[in-house]
Amino acid sequence: MRRLLAVLIVCFLAHGVELQSGKFWHITDQHWDPDYNASAKPDQVCPSSSIPVPSAGFWGDYLCDSPWVLINSSLQAMKQILPNPDFIIWTGDDTPHVSDDDTTEDIVLMIIQNVTEIISSTFPGVQVYPALGNHDYYPTNQLPPNTSHIYNAVAKMWSEWLQNSSQQTFQEGGYYTETIKGQSGHRIVSLNTNLYYKSNKQTGDLEDPAEQFEWLEKILKNASAENEKVYIIGHVPPGFFEKLRNEYWFRKNFNKHYIDVIQKYHEVISGQFFGHHHTDSFRIFYNSDTAISAMFIAPAVTPWKSTLPGVKNGSNNPGIRIFEYNSITLELQDVVTYYFNLSAANLNSPEWVEEYRFTTSYGVPNITLGSLTSAVKSFCTNRSLFQTYYTYNSVSYDLETCNERCQTDHYCAITQLSHEGYAVCVSGAARPYRRPIILTLILLCVHYIVT
Ligand SMILES: *[C@@H]1O[C@H](CO)[C@@H](O)[C@H](O)[C@H]1NC(C)=O
Ligand SMILES: *[C@@H]1O[C@H](CO)[C@@H](O)[C@H](O)[C@H]1NC(C)=O
Ligand SMILES: *[C@@H]1O[C@H](CO)[C@@H](O)[C@H](O)[C@H]1NC(C)=O
Ligand SMILES: *[C@@H]1O[C@H](CO)[C@@H](O)[C@H](O)[C@H]1NC(C)=O
Ligand SMILES: *[C@@H]1O[C@H](CO)[C@@H](O)[C@H](O)[C@H]1NC(C)=O
Ligand SMILES: *[C@@H]1O[C@H](CO)[C@@H](O)[C@H](O)[C@H]1NC(C)=O
Ligand SMILES: *[C@@H]1O[C@H](CO)[C@@H](O)[C@H](O)[C@H]1NC(C)=O
Ligand SMILES: *[C@@H]1O[C@H](CO)[C@@H](O)[C@H](O)[C@H]1NC(C)=O
Ligand SMILES: *[C@@H]1O[C@H](CO)[C@@H](O)[C@H](O)[C@H]1NC(C)=O
Ligand SMILES: *[C@@H]1O[C@H](CO)[C@@H](O)[C@H](O)[C@H]1NC(C)=O
Ligand SMILES: [Zn+2]
Ligand SMILES: [Zn+2]
Repeated sequence: MRRLLAVLIVCFLAHGVELQSGKFWHITDQHWDPDYNASAKPDQVCPSSSIPVPSAGFWGDYLCDSPWVLINSSLQAMKQILPNPDFIIWTGDDTPHVSDDDTTEDIVLMIIQNVTEIISSTFPGVQVYPALGNHDYYPTNQLPPNTSHIYNAVAKMWSEWLQNSSQQTFQEGGYYTETIKGQSGHRIVSLNTNLYYKSNKQTGDLEDPAEQFEWLEKILKNASAENEKVYIIGHVPPGFFEKLRNEYWFRKNFNKHYIDVIQKYHEVISGQFFGHHHTDSFRIFYNSDTAISAMFIAPAVTPWKSTLPGVKNGSNNPGIRIFEYNSITLELQDVVTYYFNLSAANLNSPEWVEEYRFTTSYGVPNITLGSLTSAVKSFCTNRSLFQTYYTYNSVSYDLETCNERCQTDHYCAITQLSHEGYAVCVSGAARPYRRPIILTLILLCVHYIVT
C-alpha cells in the first residue's frame, strides 16, 4: 500500500514537472541577402560586404549576410530539434546590410514577407511573437513615431500571429502586447526600441516617441494589479555593446527612461529578450546593489562581420536558441544555444548542433537572477570560465583569448546599463596591466558587490 502510494506520488510529481516545463525558441537577425552568390567574382559575392569575398561557400560567408539556404537550414533545424515550441520569439533585422541607395521600400517589404512566410510555413499553427529591427525599414533605422506604410503592411503580414488590438498599436507605433497564447496571466510585450536608437533621426528630439513609454508603464502597472508575469521582447537593447568600449545604441535620455521603468516594475518582469548585437550575452539590471532583472541577448543567424570601427573579429557563427521555463510561474530555467559551424559546413556538411547549455557550462542550477549573478562572479575568479563565455559570445567563431581590457568591457556591459555606472566600471579598470589580471577582476567584482 505504502509502495503504491509512493509510486502514485512520484507519478504525480513527474507529471506535474512535465506540465510546468515549457520551451520556446528565440531567433533573431536573419539578415537575408537575396543577392548572395557564392560563384560570383570576389567583389560581387554579396552587396552586404564592402570588401571582396575571396572564398565564399554555399552556406554563406563570414563577411556576408545570409544566403536563403542558410535561413532555410536554420528553420529546418528548429523543426527537427523542437517542432512544437509553446511559441517563438523573433526579434527582427531581416534585410541585408546595404546602403539605402541599393535598396527600396518594396525590397525591404518583400524580404520581411519572405522571412515571415518561411517561419510561418515551417511552424504552421505555432504562435510567433515578432518585433521589427532597425533594418526592417526604409530608409534604414528611420522607424517613425507614428503610423507608416511599412507598419501597416507588416501588421497585415503578421495578422495570423497578432490579435486585432495588437495590429492596431503596431500600425501606430510598431509595438503591441498580448496574453501569451494558452497561458492566462502571462503577457508578452513587444517593444519598438528602434525608436530609441541614436541613428534614428525621426525621434531624436521627442521625449516619448509614439508614447511607447507611457503605454508600457500602463501595461506594466495593470499587469502588476492583475498579478500577471511579463516577458519583454525587442530588437535594439539598452545599455552597452560588450565588444567595443563606450559603444551603445539608445540615446542617453531613452536609456535612462528604460532603466527607470525596469526599476519601477521589475517584479512583474520575468525576462527580457533582445537581438541586434549578433552576439550571445546577457545583462543584469540593478537597483542600487540589488539585482532586479535580467536581459538575454540572442546571437544572430547571419554570420556578417561587423563594420563598426574598432570591433575585432566581428563575425559570428549562426546561432539559434531554446529557452526552458516554468509555464506556471514564467520563471526561466535554462537556455540552450544551437549553432552552425559555417566554415565546417562549407568544407564538409551542414550541421546544427548544441553549442552549450547555460547551467552546465557556467555551473549554476538555473538562469534566475541569483544564478546569473553567481555566474558573473565565477567569470571574475575563473579566467577559463570567462574565456568560455567569450567563445560563446561569438557563437564559437572567435577562439582567441579575451585579454584584460576585453574582459573589463564584457564585465562592465553585463553589469552596468547606465552611462554613469558603465563609465565608473571601465575607468576602475583603466590601469589594466599594472595588477595581475585576476586580482584586478576580483577587486572590480568586490567593488560592485559592495557598492
Ligand atoms: C552567380 O555568378 C555566376 C558567375 O558570375 C553567374 O554565372 C551566375 O548567373 C550568378 N547567379 C545568379 C543567381 O545570379
Ligand atoms: C528548405 O529546405 C528544404 C530541405 O532542403 C526544402 O525541402 C524546402 O523546399 C526549402 N524551403 C524553402 C522555402 O526554401
Ligand atoms: C520571396 O517572395 C517572392 C514573392 O513575394 C517570391 O517571388 C520569391 O520566390 C520568394 N523568394 C524566396 C527565396 O522564397
Ligand atoms: C479582426 O479583424 C478582422 C479583419 O480586420 C475581422 O474580420 C475580425 O472580425 C476582427 N476580430 C475581432 C475579434 O475583432
Ligand atoms: C510622423 O512623425 C514624423 C517625425 O516626427 C513627422 O515628421 C510627421 O509629420 C508625423 N506624421 C504624422 C502623420 O503625424
Ligand atoms: C488591465 O487588464 C485587464 C485584464 O487583463 C483588462 O481587462 C483591462 O482592460 C486592462 N486595463 C488596461 C488599462 O489596459
Ligand atoms: C581576429 O583578429 C586578429 C587580429 O585582427 C586576427 O589576426 C585573427 O585572424 C582574427 N581571428 C578571427 C577568427 O577572425
Ligand atoms: C569549425 O570548423 C572548422 C573547420 O572544420 C574548425 O577548424 C573549427 O575548429 C570548428 N569550430 C568549432 C568551435 O568546433
Ligand atoms: C534557482 O536556483 C536557486 C539556487 O541557486 C534556488 O534557490 C532557486 O529556487 C532556483 N529557482 C528556480 C526557479 O528554479
Ligand atoms: C573554472 O572553469 C572551468 C570551466 O571553464 C572548470 O572546468 C573549472 O573547474 C573551474 N575552476 C574552478 C576553480 O572552479
Ligand atoms: Zn542585425
Ligand atoms: Zn539591428
